[in-house]
Amino acid sequence: MVVPVSIRRRLALFLLAFFSLKLCFGEDRITFSTPINDSETLLCKRGIFRFGFFTPVNSTTRLRYVGIWYDKIPIQTVIWVANKDTPVNDTSGVVSISEDGNLVVKDGRNRLLWSTNVTVQVAPNATWVQLMDSGNLMLQDNRNKGETLWESFKHPYNSFMPRMNLGTNGRTGENLKLTSWRSDQDPSTGNYTAGLAPFAFPELLIWKNKVPQWRSGPWNGQVFIGLPDMDSLLFLDGFNLNSDNQGTVSMSYANDSFMYHFNLDPDGAIYQRDWSTSMRSWRIGIRFPSTDCDAYGRCGPYGICHPRGNPPCKCVKGFVPRNETEWNGGNWSNGCVRRTPLRCERLRNGSSNGGGGGKGDVFLKLQKMKVPISAEQSLANEQACPNVCLDNCSCTAYAYDRGVGCMIWSGGLVDMQSFLGSGIDLNIRLAHSELKTHSKRAIMITAPVLGVALVAAVCVLLACRKLKKRPAEPPKDRSAEILFERMEALTSGNEAASNQVKLKELPLFEFQVLATSTDNFCLRNKLGQGGFGPVYKGKLPEGQEIAVKRLSRASGQGLEELMNEVVVISKLQHRNLVKLLGCCIEGEERLLVYEYMPKKSLDAYLFDPLKQKILDWKTRFNIMEGICRGLLYLHRDSRLKIIHRDLKASNILLDEYLNPKISDFGLARVFQANEDEANTRRVVGTYGYMSPEYAMEGLFSEKSDVFSLGVIFLEIISGRKNSHKEENNLNLLAYAWKLWNDGEAASLADPNVSDECFEKEIQKCVQIGLLCVQEVANDRPNVSTVIWMLSTENSNLPEPKQPAFIARRGASDAESSDQSSQKASVNDVSLTAVTGR
Ligand SMILES: *[C@@H]1O[C@H](CO)[C@@H](O)[C@H](O)[C@H]1NC(C)=O
Ligand SMILES: *[C@@H]1O[C@H](CO)[C@@H](O)[C@H](O)[C@H]1NC(C)=O
Ligand SMILES: *[C@@H]1O[C@H](CO)[C@@H](O)[C@H](O)[C@H]1NC(C)=O
Ligand SMILES: *[C@@H]1O[C@H](CO)[C@@H](O)[C@H](O)[C@H]1NC(C)=O
Ligand SMILES: *[C@@H]1O[C@H](CO)[C@@H](O)[C@H](O)[C@H]1NC(C)=O
Ligand SMILES: *[C@@H]1O[C@H](CO)[C@@H](O)[C@H](O)[C@H]1NC(C)=O
Ligand SMILES: *[C@@H]1O[C@H](CO)[C@@H](O)[C@H](O)[C@H]1NC(C)=O
Ligand SMILES: *[C@@H]1O[C@H](CO)[C@@H](O)[C@H](O)[C@H]1NC(C)=O
Ligand SMILES: *[C@@H]1O[C@H](CO)[C@@H](O)[C@H](O)[C@H]1NC(C)=O
Ligand SMILES: *[C@@H]1O[C@H](CO)[C@@H](O)[C@H](O)[C@H]1NC(C)=O
Ligand SMILES: *[C@@H]1O[C@H](CO)[C@@H](O)[C@H](O)[C@H]1NC(C)=O
Repeated sequence: MVVPVSIRRRLALFLLAFFSLKLCFGEDRITFSTPINDSETLLCKRGIFRFGFFTPVNSTTRLRYVGIWYDKIPIQTVIWVANKDTPVNDTSGVVSISEDGNLVVKDGRNRLLWSTNVTVQVAPNATWVQLMDSGNLMLQDNRNKGETLWESFKHPYNSFMPRMNLGTNGRTGENLKLTSWRSDQDPSTGNYTAGLAPFAFPELLIWKNKVPQWRSGPWNGQVFIGLPDMDSLLFLDGFNLNSDNQGTVSMSYANDSFMYHFNLDPDGAIYQRDWSTSMRSWRIGIRFPSTDCDAYGRCGPYGICHPRGNPPCKCVKGFVPRNETEWNGGNWSNGCVRRTPLRCERLRNGSSNGGGGGKGDVFLKLQKMKVPISAEQSLANEQACPNVCLDNCSCTAYAYDRGVGCMIWSGGLVDMQSFLGSGIDLNIRLAHSELKTHSKRAIMITAPVLGVALVAAVCVLLACRKLKKRPAEPPKDRSAEILFERMEALTSGNEAASNQVKLKELPLFEFQVLATSTDNFCLRNKLGQGGFGPVYKGKLPEGQEIAVKRLSRASGQGLEELMNEVVVISKLQHRNLVKLLGCCIEGEERLLVYEYMPKKSLDAYLFDPLKQKILDWKTRFNIMEGICRGLLYLHRDSRLKIIHRDLKASNILLDEYLNPKISDFGLARVFQANEDEANTRRVVGTYGYMSPEYAMEGLFSEKSDVFSLGVIFLEIISGRKNSHKEENNLNLLAYAWKLWNDGEAASLADPNVSDECFEKEIQKCVQIGLLCVQEVANDRPNVSTVIWMLSTENSNLPEPKQPAFIARRGASDAESSDQSSQKASVNDVSLTAVTGR
């Protein structure tokens, strides 16, 4: 660090949580009367970021810039620059609050070099500037309870930080993007920008002087589907994207580690970096673009880029290079043209051309593709999607992804890539006659779905046979292995059996091993009673601790179906889901083996008068957010959608660091596989957490999980069980509702966490909880909206309506206090109420 640093003042700002941007009290900051000069800096409370003057390392000039960088690490890492194009040429610069209340940078001659430039009409002593622990520099207004007038997170430069939002605002047309530096030594505005493009399906793009260089493919709720290897397992945890379909799209992520960010570098690539303490350097996790094929539109319209191909560009079958000479010479940018016109084109030009209409067009199905740019959105479902395309002559391709929906393209298909691992099926429209020459790969749109399922089932069966002979495989640290297996699973499926799951991915345990590890399911080792059977603690011969769930024999499911389900569930990997390590199926015994959670479950902490003190507000907030992320993953996973159906505090386990992990997910599915997906006669769930439509009518959906989530929120905030009676014999929901209407929502909070600093945030969380438990399922937000509401500082959240079960207060009365299942009957629905421990 070349900057001589002397801290004249220390920011004694008491920030308990970096997501809580509210200032509680503080003495040191930049104010009108306390500017900083070249040799002074600001340091945020937790000492992660520093603000002041710097000169880039290795710079040949001595120009001085004002910026924010990581403190305490030996490599200068600047995350934001104020006067990027107007440096000070000596050490006479000053950062101060100007007469109009703005933060300004001036040189020694008092010339204005940079300003926050907000039009505020305030007395200069009414604003101050503060460097937050998140790395955000905020200009705040004294008079209006610290209203934020300006913040550096809303004026990003080359770094995308945790909890920062990039995106477009449909109303104002504003688009927050990253901009590269000119070079590593020169922080002035470079030629590259990166940000979200407000397409029908939002994508991340990198531009060079406004020309696209790279794109991510559409967002499917979990990942950008045009990025190979980008897997929620690897790094997408915490990513969030919101779109209102009216041009407002925003993206953010929340990595709890501060030493983790994304940069747009001067070379025009986005890097994800995290600090390695042991190596004392930044580790690069991901780089976009990463291959030559990632270069936007490399192969032109209707050309497909194959990363390992030689040459890399090929025309789609049925297309030929537009200019053979250029194409063969290695200039592919003009792409390919259709060899045989589509039927509708021939019809349009009159039947003399091309011998009448002929047979209808067909689709060529290409697997594992990066889909082209500029998809249009259709609301059609999976079955109707191809017809939407066939019905419009200008449609050239369609694709369907569960998380994205039906995408259709018209005109040239630009920027296609064939992936080795991930990617989705792209169906390109061809004239029927093209089919004959390539009949092997072309699939008629009327492909018999049943046949596919049949083949898949047979494969699973065969795989099962083989499996049984395999010895038990002890789980080890498998992250690399899992990655490999996932790749393999994704690349190996043949066309017909693409739904086939690879059973060998799930380790099988021998019953005897599990029995020994738990001392023959000894009561002493019993951890609890889950909805589907008791759970025991076990220890494998290698010493690894595990939790073993012995499923009760209620499942009438066939062995293959069960295995298939379990394998699918075992593939769900998310840091907020308990990891399934393997299973055991021998004779009548069905056991599931999970990672062991030393801190047990949330209810053990939340409702214990002593332990609940450990859960401070920050931890509770983190738990709420984590539950949401796990649930979002279940609801939005692109392979299968899982409604948990029995979400409750005792199903939320806590790891060593009190991070929440949802357990028992997918089991409802295992037990219900042959029942109607939307309406089941056998209700599995727990009183007090069940939504009215589920408890009364057996109807379940994402929104019934959201209801349970809302109950958990209110329990976390209050530290009280929903079943517990509050004053006036109100249940927790009714009590929260009453407080909300009395304008005293924050007083719902557990006295252990209530603190003026968090009052607003607590109030917001109560509001979100109440929104989730509204009577009408459609009124409840979905999980991604809940996550957005948790992170937003926007205080205009919807007003909740009256929660369910206020009138029918008795609904939670029935919770049984022992550990057994009990049955009741409501309106012909057999209710299996299962209580946790
Ligand atoms: C900055 O201010 C400090 C104290 O106010 C002073 O000691 C120091 O000389 C100043 N530095 C410059 C470069 O003006
Ligand atoms: C500065 O230059 C040295 C020597 O050329 C090099 O090792 C170092 O990586 C450079 N630092 C930066 C930040 O570019
Ligand atoms: C800084 O720039 C000003 C004019 O832009 C010039 O008058 C002054 O001499 C320069 N100072 C240094 C130290 O180069
Ligand atoms: C401040 O904003 C106004 C318009 O909003 C613009 O014309 C002016 O150039 C800006 N000034 C600076 C220093 O950015
Ligand atoms: C702010 O400045 C105005 C005029 O300069 C003065 O009257 C007022 O007392 C000041 N307020 C504070 C809180 O210092
Ligand atoms: C940025 O683009 C401009 C105009 O295209 C070009 O003149 C300049 O050399 C480019 N700068 C860099 C650093 O590539
Ligand atoms: C944050 O990043 C670090 C480093 O890449 C990673 O190990 C950790 O799992 C991430 N945390 C979250 C919450 O995503
Ligand atoms: C193909 O491209 C070459 C080189 O750009 C050009 O000379 C030639 O005229 C083109 N041929 C056609 C048929 O357009
Ligand atoms: C490829 O051909 C186009 C014109 O067809 C031309 O503009 C472009 O510069 C060529 N690219 C290369 C790399 O030769
Ligand atoms: C249809 O006619 C137009 C002009 O009349 C021509 O440009 C186009 O190539 C024709 N298309 C087909 C498929 O024959
Ligand atoms: C066909 O698609 C084009 C391009 O998307 C669109 O402009 C047109 O309205 C569509 N036509 C019909 C009949 O839907």
